Amino acid sequence: MNDDQIKKGLRKIVNPVGLVVAKTDEKRDATTVAWISKVSNQPPLIMVSIAPERYIHPLIQETGEFVLALLSEDQDGLALSCGTKTAYTIDKFDDMDIMTKEAQLVKGFHIKGAVANLECRVKDSLTAGDHTLFIAEVLAADYDDAKKPLIMSDKMGTTDY
Ligand SMILES: Cc1cc2nc3c(=O)[nH]c(=O)nc-3n(C[C@H](O)[C@H](O)[C@H](O)COP(=O)(O)O)c2cc1C
Repeated sequence: MNDDQIKKGLRKIVNPVGLVVAKTDEKRDATTVAWISKVSNQPPLIMVSIAPERYIHPLIQETGEFVLALLSEDQDGLALSCGTKTAYTIDKFDDMDIMTKEAQLVKGFHIKGAVANLECRVKDSLTAGDHTLFIAEVLAADYDDAKKPLIMSDKMGTTDY
């Protein structure tokens, strides 16, 4: 079995596309993520899988908090930009003019126009191969029933996710 066959098989797992948003006193970032899942009902826990080299990785470790914005189908351009540009050289919020609203219970921002914004506090993290799984409790959720979720597809500008 070759690696390409396994990679293409794995792409049959259906994932929504979101932005993880985090901020410290000096830094902020929004990074596109497709490896997201619910993992517990009580307490309500989710998981996001983030590579250690992502700019946002130490921000999440420092604050233990983030917002997971589940993007809507008309936000594919935003997903592509935040998933291909890098916060090591630009401020994505300034560069893309992302519409935000301050989160209530955690450090971070909601993304306007998203299907849902989940305010999350990290409960656990573990290394899974070349990524870190952040398992976080959802403390607050904002959502818009009229929006349809953006689903990961081959058009999203990466073959890795
Ligand atoms: C559709 C899509 C999904 C992605 N999903 C993930 C993911 O689940 N985890 C991850 O670590 N990176 C993911 N990425 C890659 C990062 O979003 C991308 O490398 C980003 O440019 C990192 O920005 P940074 O250099 O500011 O850290 C994804 C990218 C795209 C386009």
